[in-house]
Amino acid sequence: MNPLRKPILAANWKMHKTIAEAASFAADLQEQIGPLTDREAVIAPPFTAMDAVSRALKLEGYSASAQNCHWEVKGAFTGEISTVMLKDLGCRYVLVGHSERRHIFGETDEMIRAKTAAVFAHGMLPIVCVGELLVERDAGRTSDIVAKQVDKALEGLDSALAEKVVLAYEPVWAIGTGRTATPAQAQEVHAFIRTRLESLFNKEVANRVRILYGGSVKPDNVDALMAEADLDGMLVGGASLEVASFRRIVQFKS
Ligand code: PGA
Repeated sequence: MNPLRKPILAANWKMHKTIAEAASFAADLQEQIGPLTDREAVIAPPFTAMDAVSRALKLEGYSASAQNCHWEVKGAFTGEISTVMLKDLGCRYVLVGHSERRHIFGETDEMIRAKTAAVFAHGMLPIVCVGELLVERDAGRTSDIVAKQVDKALEGLDSALAEKVVLAYEPVWAIGTGRTATPAQAQEVHAFIRTRLESLFNKEVANRVRILYGGSVKPDNVDALMAEADLDGMLVGGASLEVASFRRIVQFKS
């Protein structure tokens, strides 16, 4: 663990859990783990359970994240939710550009840039997701793809905000497939992203930005992943749906 970068263990629940299920998970998790000072636990519930989760997360080290947002403050955008509304609900973080948003819902790098700026503009922190498809990896294009996604998402940010960004490297072929990147494969891309941040901003920013890994993170691989120098946390889908499994991930040992 790098002292400049407090690890984040984030649960991305996607389209799962009712209000009651979400609230009892949040209460049980805190009761079983207690306050956290050397790491952060973040829960990203569906919007319908956001109010219940953010009210239930009371202990130090726990906070709520949204899974998505719109880039405009208000307007005629049926079905969308703005960053002002999310701030109102008690969100600290917002996931931006998750691969399911990019690939199922057609989000572009430009939308992701606008969303990232909107999250900052309303006092929250973006967790910007990047990652290559399997065909892109097989074609040796991982660095090009990831560099373009990082460059576009952070375009126009000044260094003071850039150092507060959280990035999540999630190779698309590892999401929900049970096929995790090896710690070495993840470390290689994380180190590449950090170098990229240094050239986009400066060394200070590069050293401070937390880069999470996501894609089939489980209780039995979290310790090995967290042992890598440039992995500063985990973004967890399937294994975050049960308290026991997410608890073990929050309590990673490195
Ligand atoms: P997974 O999902 O852990 O189920 O692979 C990760 C994610 O989509 O953030």
